[in-house]
Amino acid sequence: MPVTSQRNAEDERATLFPPELLPLFGDAFILSCDLLEEYVARLTLAVFRSTGLEAAFRKNVGVTLEQVLAQAGLAASVARVPVAWILAMLTRRGWLESGVEANGEILHRLEQPLPELDPNEILQRQQGHDPRYVPSFAITTLAAEYYPAILRGQMTGEQALFSAEGISAWVKYFSNDNPMYAVSNALGAIAAEQSLPEGPVSILEIGGGLGSGTEALLDRFKARTKPIAAYHFTEISALFLKRARRSLLARWTDCPLSFAPLDIDRPFAEGGISPATYSLVYGVNVLHVARDLAATLCELRSALKVGGVMVMSECVRPFADTPLHMEFVFNLLTAFRDPLLVPTWRPNGGFLTPEQWTSALIANGFKGVRIYPDIAAIRGAYPSFVAAAIVARKT
Ligand SMILES: C[S@@+](CC[C@H](N)C(=O)[O-])C[C@H]1O[C@@H](n2cnc3c(N)ncnc32)[C@H](O)[C@@H]1O
Repeated sequence: MPVTSQRNAEDERATLFPPELLPLFGDAFILSCDLLEEYVARLTLAVFRSTGLEAAFRKNVGVTLEQVLAQAGLAASVARVPVAWILAMLTRRGWLESGVEANGEILHRLEQPLPELDPNEILQRQQGHDPRYVPSFAITTLAAEYYPAILRGQMTGEQALFSAEGISAWVKYFSNDNPMYAVSNALGAIAAEQSLPEGPVSILEIGGGLGSGTEALLDRFKARTKPIAAYHFTEISALFLKRARRSLLARWTDCPLSFAPLDIDRPFAEGGISPATYSLVYGVNVLHVARDLAATLCELRSALKVGGVMVMSECVRPFADTPLHMEFVFNLLTAFRDPLLVPTWRPNGGFLTPEQWTSALIANGFKGVRIYPDIAAIRGAYPSFVAAAIVARKT
């Protein structure tokens, strides 16, 4: 995302972002985002080669996605979504030609040799600019290494990305020391603080992971002297839950914290959640993996008291057809790429547009939906800007 707007080549941040968010999106942050996008584009080129996709093309001969998958010998049920994303990404960069034929078929063509671009050059630039962001680069490097094995069906994305090596990379990634991830935590915390009424709040967090989102929320509430009546931290992974419990209890000794496993794809009653209990249901980068989004939204709404608010910090897709750079990693995970689809508001796995989120929430009984900041207003100027909190109420 260049600092200047795509609309008029001026810096429009002060006009388009709420003032309290401006410090999060300074020039240094934006340069790191640009470098990560370039790094992912170069890794995508490398993966296009390492998975046999480049060899599946013959010069100037148009091929469909299914033909490319078959020609490269990839496991179509796993590879379809990631390869469609790779083709879309290379097309956006102008490295492939893609077009709709008269019969409605989408054909992809490789018309000229692909450039030789070294990802490490970009990583070194990032290291010189600000090494705190390197964990975001490391996760994409890890994914790139495993692309061939996963797309050939030799292992799952879950096995590859959550191995011992993977866990240590995620620990560094899901951290407030990684400014790229900290932005999601900060956005969610600011949105939650703004959305809650005066008085003590009872909080249910889903998919709390290693607790960096919790830390940011508790820091924010402490700074604003917002009292917490109860904070119930939940997470599906026993390992993450144990680590989060240890670190949060060590630091927040006077906060009424409780911890329990919770699978957002199961009835919340199985995790001991009682209806109409919480004034805030909260999550950072988790709701988009719900297998049946309607069912999970129904559980979240049910857990709220009347008047309660849901705040979910999410990566929001600005336009329906835009491939986002972090999908390079997440497309490898089944829960991300293969949920229950709803044509009108969940036409794909993973990240949704502001309109799709709004429709999903309204269709499932929420009111007062707000996307903060307003991606629909920002995207014409900054089409790469994707971080937002989804806020909605139970009335
Ligand atoms: C992007 S991470 C969130 C990280 C967290 N905000 C933190 O600061 O560490 C998403 C989390 O959702 C969890 N998750 C994935 N599927 C889940 C499910 N079905 N139910 C509950 N949590 C789930 C993952 O284990 C992971 O910890």
